[in-house]
This record gives sequence, C-alpha cells and structure tokens, in this order.
Amino acid sequence: MTRVFSGIQPTGEVHLGNYLGALRHWAEAQHENESIYCVVDLHAVTVRQDPDELRAKTLATMATLLAVGLDPDSCTLFVQSHVHEHPELAWLLECTVSFGELRRMTQFKDKSSRGGSDGVEGVSAGLFTYPALMAADILLYDTDLVPVGDDQRQHLELTRDVAERFNHRYGDTFVIPEAAIPRVGARVMDLQRPTDKMSKSTDSDAGVVMLTDDPATITRKFRRAVTDSEPEVRYDPENKPGVSNLLAILAASTSGDPATLAGEFEGYGALKAATAEAVVAVLEPVQRRRAELLEEEGYLLDVMSKGAAKASEIAADVLRRAHDAMGFVVVH
Ligand code: TRP
Repeated sequence: MTRVFSGIQPTGEVHLGNYLGALRHWAEAQHENESIYCVVDLHAVTVRQDPDELRAKTLATMATLLAVGLDPDSCTLFVQSHVHEHPELAWLLECTVSFGELRRMTQFKDKSSRGGSDGVEGVSAGLFTYPALMAADILLYDTDLVPVGDDQRQHLELTRDVAERFNHRYGDTFVIPEAAIPRVGARVMDLQRPTDKMSKSTDSDAGVVMLTDDPATITRKFRRAVTDSEPEVRYDPENKPGVSNLLAILAASTSGDPATLAGEFEGYGALKAATAEAVVAVLEPVQRRRAELLEEEGYLLDVMSKGAAKASEIAADVLRRAHDAMGFVVVH
C-alpha cells in the first residue's frame, strides 16, 4: 500500500480552499492508502506563538481533521511534538543539508524579508532550519507520497535531495518521497482577487471563506465576489477568473463539472446564490461535528495519544536505521 504523509499547521482555522483542495481528499483516500497526518506544532513555533493560543489551536486542528471525516481507526492522526523522533531526525538532517540550500528556500526568504533588509537578524534559527524538520517528518515514515500545496514544492524537492544525499553517503536508509500537488484547476481562488489562491495570509478576509463561517457570512462573501463586466456565465479560467472560480467551487461542492454547470445560469446573481448555498450545505455537517468535538477535549487527547503511539512505532525504527547508518552506537 502507498504510504501517504502530510502535515498541517495548527493555525486553528481552515478555509474553503484547504477543505475542497486537500482535507476532503485526504478523507476520501484514507481507505485506499496508508495515511498519516500530523499537526505540526513544532513548525508553528518557528514564529512566535502565544502559549494558550497554540494549545487551543492544536486541539482545534485535531478537531477539524476528525470533523472532515478522517477516522483514527483508518489512518494515523498525531501531533508532531508528541513524537520526539521528529526533532531528533531533524538534527541529523540539519547536518546533511547545507547552509546554502536552506538559504535558497523561497519561504524562508519571504518570511525573513518581512522585517526589512536586515530581517534575517531577528528571525528564529528555527525558521531557517524549518525545511530540515519538514524533511524529517516525511522521511521518518518511509513516505511514498506527500500531498501538499504548490507553495511547498521546493521543500519537497529539498527533502528528496537530502534523502538521496544521505542514502548515497551512508547507504540506503530513506525512501525517496514524491509530491502530490493538486491540479491548477482544482485550486480554490480568492473571491476578491480570483487570480490568487485562497489563503489566510491575505490582508482582507472578504475573499476567504473560512470553514467556521456562518451561513450569512458565507452568503455575503459570495454575493460580493468579484466577477467581470460581461454578462455571460462561462467556464474560462484564463479570461474569466472570478466566474470560473465560482463555477469550480460550485462543481467541487456538488460533484459537478464547471463547464456543464455554466449552462445552467442566466446571470451572475443566480450563480453566486447557488454557489453560496452549495458551500453552506457542504460545510454544515463539518461545522457541526467540529463544534461537538471541541466540547470533547478528553476524546481529542485520547486520539492524539493513540496516534502518537502508532506513529512512534514506525518513527523509532526509521530513526534507529538512520543513527546506525551514520555511525552512532546503537545499544538496543
Ligand atoms: N510546511 C507545511 C506547510 O506549511 C507543513 C508541513 C510540515 C508539512 N511538515 C510537513 C507538509 C510534512 C507535508 C509534509 O503547509
């Protein structure tokens, strides 16, 4: 069976793009693959976090994973800091990857340049070594496939390079993973700026539908969605990005086809209303389940602890293999 691994940041809230583009597919694929999903709290602290918020967001992220339909009996769901092999292998990989390789990572360049020209002075060393920890996450599970967004492609390439280098230096140790990046058409775009991917990091939330938005908010965001001045409803992402995004969201929410759906609408008003309605319907059961789970902290902790035990079993073996290969004295 193909082993799938992915990590999700404990930012607490997930948007419609995360749900339609990733989480829903994770839930669908959990019976075909051996899937492992990790809430990456150690990655979260590469930038400063409020402790109470981090705790709450980690629990909320686990609740979200369960609410979208991931079943802890079919897949492994765990929190990164519960499996100490992650930072341990990250150290070995930090000593395998070069300073120059890490410096070239665009995510690091973006995040560290926000503080001005001397931005790198103030950022944490963890932000710099972030990709080595991510490589450890993946390599610890003999992962075949890593579903990630396009923004993580470079980190995946680095993971492959580091794994190949390690294998070449120390003998076959790691499985070389492949990225599974969604098709461009499968991406959900911002409702206000339909040429950009829907993302929490945009300054305005008017174009971002959150998993936790209530029906009135969802309806309002779709009503205000940017379209174009031509009256025709047509699926043409290149020339009509706003309208095509609505059609793609409607299609994803109703298992339809965007081009076919286009023929069913006379004007943009009706398309927006139908899309909002479909999204409300798709999110409603997820929201209800998530709210219930947030009230059951004991259950969430139990899922986390069982998940960590399952994950550790695999991770401990792979770490031992890596230690042994590098020449550490392995005593048991
Ligand atoms: N860096 C990823 C992101 O920001 C999260 C992540 C951490 C991840 N470890 C991973 C994704 C391992 C895939 C595999 O989205």
